[in-house]
Amino acid sequence: MKIFLLGFMGCGKSTTGQLLAQQLGIQFADIDRLIEEKTGTKIPDIFHKQGEQTFRQIEKNALAEVALCPHDTVIATGGGTPCSDENIRLINQNGISVYLKMSAENLTERLRQNTHNRPLINNIHDREILRTFIKEKLNEREKWYRQAHYIIKAKNLVVSNLASFICQKTQG
Ligand code: S3P
Repeated sequence: MKIFLLGFMGCGKSTTGQLLAQQLGIQFADIDRLIEEKTGTKIPDIFHKQGEQTFRQIEKNALAEVALCPHDTVIATGGGTPCSDENIRLINQNGISVYLKMSAENLTERLRQNTHNRPLINNIHDREILRTFIKEKLNEREKWYRQAHYIIKAKNLVVSNLASFICQKTQG
């Protein structure tokens, strides 16, 4: 069994995923961390030195590797990981996908103090510009996110409840 958590930066994929894996007694993988381990380079450095296109190729390979590995795993994807027809297909054919849905407004609040390690937003310092960027990016990406098997409104859920909820859904 594999459970893929999808959603925009800052929606809580990694925190929820770790707890969910603990509750299910299976391993946890985070695509961004896998990429950093494999390349020996931090995500922002990959973006800055090699460009986004190269990052997307590395990300795609990391996704394929984790999707095809034989172990039961909860996988926190990166915000852009499911955003190609090929990648969302790979995800949905190899496990259960859950989209942690959050509004642009909530994401802006969560990301505002936490832009520095995120190359897509690390030079946006104005709240309104950040909100507009998130809104547009989210609109662009929704067509892939909403192909997830389950869509969960993540906003008011406490992480532990969210993990229990996904646990029930995916076990039931
Ligand atoms: C990205 C999200 C990041 C990381 C990279 C690109 C995106 O992951 O993969 O900075 O395109 O939305 P998180 O969603 O874990 O922040």
